[in-house]
Amino acid sequence: MRELISVELVPLTHREVEITDMKSVKTAFTRHRPDVVINTAAYVRVDDCETEQDKAFSVNALGARNVAVVCQEFGAKLVHISTDYVFGGESEPRTAPYTEFDFPIPPNVYGKSKLAGENLVRHLCSKHFIIRSSGLFGVAGASGKGGNFVETMLRLAKERDELRVVNDQIFSPTYTKDLAEKIAQLIHTEYYGIFHITNKGACSWYEFSKEILNLAGIRTPVIPITSDQYPQKAKRPHFSVLDNYHLRLLEMNDMRPWQEALKDYLKEKGHIK
Ligand SMILES: NC(=O)c1ccc[n+]([C@@H]2O[C@H](COP(=O)([O-])OP(=O)(O)OC[C@H]3O[C@@H](n4cnc5c(N)ncnc54)[C@H](OP(=O)(O)O)[C@@H]3O)[C@@H](O)[C@H]2O)c1
Repeated sequence: MRELISVELVPLTHREVEITDMKSVKTAFTRHRPDVVINTAAYVRVDDCETEQDKAFSVNALGARNVAVVCQEFGAKLVHISTDYVFGGESEPRTAPYTEFDFPIPPNVYGKSKLAGENLVRHLCSKHFIIRSSGLFGVAGASGKGGNFVETMLRLAKERDELRVVNDQIFSPTYTKDLAEKIAQLIHTEYYGIFHITNKGACSWYEFSKEILNLAGIRTPVIPITSDQYPQKAKRPHFSVLDNYHLRLLEMNDMRPWQEALKDYLKEKGHIK
């Protein structure tokens, strides 16, 4: 996170800390004595979580618990990264963005395990910031998913005659750089609690794909399809738009529109000038 440049940053990989192992977490804390911990570690393969429920809960719930317990012991602030997929499991269709004060009903095992992690963090670490975001794209890419959606669309658009993308799952795409900048502001405060942090606006994956190709000047046709036409193991929410309500109440919600953030990302990656 280059946005956290004003503080000394110690990035740890899975090779250096195993969050499901309390001893490993304690060893890392003893070595680095952090004032703030940003826990981005998670089991993120949403479909695999359906068949690997034990792994999902071990990492996303108990791993989060371990980090929270040790943060509390060392008096560190904890930034815990969570997801829009804690929402969208209700039977009634939803059209209003979810605030931090809405009751989460996760639609799948991944969302349930992330919500369990959030609850453990809330109860076990007093200085917590639980950050829910969605549809992340960033220069580093998600290791567990092999890159990110933007890069996948750009690659497929070059390989295929047309792309078929779901048009009935609405969310807010978010640039990790913007998210990191907001986290960098929050960690200097004592505004503990849950925060929704996404770029402004919302779209379907189809609309997101259209904008990616449009900005990149690629003319491959994009065909809208329904979730039923693209069956996946884990149920996805039809609507999981997050309202940055907590930030708004604090007059800290200056997140820019996702289209602007996407353009910036494409520039940073060298896809456009
Ligand atoms: N990508 C999105 O659109 C999105 C949206 C909302 C929220 N999030 C949240 O953002 C965070 C980062 O996710 P990401 O999508 O960027 O995926 P990612 O790049 O795969 O990040 C997850 C990291 O956690 C590590 N990890 C997994 N199990 C671990 C363990 N037991 N101990 C220590 N490290 C472990 C992984 O390492 P290995 O790969 O080596 O196992 C990986 O580096 C997660 O909390 C996720 O829930 C992501």
